[in-house]
Amino acid sequence: MTTAIIGANGQLGQDLCKVFGAQGDEVVGLNHGQMEITRIDSVREALQAVRPRLVVNTAAMHQVESCEAHPGRAFTVNAIGARNLAEVCSHIDAVLVHISTDYVFDGNQDHPYTENDPPLPLNVYGNSKLAGEHFVRTRTARHFVIRVSGLYGHAPCRAKGGLNFVELMLKLAGERPQVRVVDNEVLTPTFTLDLARQVAHLARSDAFGLYHATAAGDCSWYAFAREIFRLAGLTTPLQVAHPDEFPAKAPRPLYSVLANQGLQEHGLDILLPWREGLAEYFASR
Ligand SMILES: NC(=O)c1ccc[n+]([C@@H]2O[C@H](COP(=O)([O-])OP(=O)(O)OC[C@H]3O[C@@H](n4cnc5c(N)ncnc54)[C@H](OP(=O)(O)O)[C@@H]3O)[C@@H](O)[C@H]2O)c1
Repeated sequence: MTTAIIGANGQLGQDLCKVFGAQGDEVVGLNHGQMEITRIDSVREALQAVRPRLVVNTAAMHQVESCEAHPGRAFTVNAIGARNLAEVCSHIDAVLVHISTDYVFDGNQDHPYTENDPPLPLNVYGNSKLAGEHFVRTRTARHFVIRVSGLYGHAPCRAKGGLNFVELMLKLAGERPQVRVVDNEVLTPTFTLDLARQVAHLARSDAFGLYHATAAGDCSWYAFAREIFRLAGLTTPLQVAHPDEFPAKAPRPLYSVLANQGLQEHGLDILLPWREGLAEYFASR
């Protein structure tokens, strides 16, 4: 089966290429230079040349502050881009897997969000991704919209640049007398290789629809850092930072834990608890 991965050189895209390839698919990785999702002619041309049975879209504008500063661009990439992909996939009869985000929620809930909870994004990024979800759900029947959270992988995140959170903690612990991390944002960090296996597992089914797919459990950034320090055997003091210490312009949900309810109902949830995902990341580092 031919599977096209869009954003193939990205953090999640690289692991998706590995996993789908290892499972015997003919994988065609499409990078930004080969397809501009905001232009339907570019999407049509690239996908008609490949004729995939399955298309996985990871491409997005997902740097939160940049989306806030450039809302038109954010909606063009995250909403119109998704619409273009959905329309072309419907036309060529390919299944579309579209990656979305926990930031569609406002974070006011105190228990994990299921697929049935109403989204209420706080920022431009979340609103533009939610609009993209709607386009996918209304423009092509054979789709999976998958909301994910707090990704880290061996390949760098292209949009955010630099190091993922794990590597940043390791670097700071080596450079500073102490490391300070906020404790007031709770989420579920998810290793991209585990997520890629989950995406492939779900995409082999015909249980189309909206899914949450994160590692099991939850933690604050501080608790995540504490586990990183423990696994790496770091002795640098780790302290809780005041919430105002790292100010952000765009509001973010303080609680964005997702329940993989849809995957569980279909008996398809294969994601590890977040600590096990992190241990696997270290073992394969
Ligand atoms: N990272 C997280 O913590 C996180 C959390 C929740 C949800 N998500 C979602 O997960 C997905 C993947 O994230 P990631 O960390 O793997 O991202 P990433 O490393 O930034 O990769 C995104 C890929 O998409 C490409 N791309 C961007 N704009 C494009 C466009 N207009 N047309 C075609 N390709 C384009 C990028 O290419 P260039 O770099 O060359 O432009 C890159 O290859 C995104 O949909 C994001 O919204 C991420």
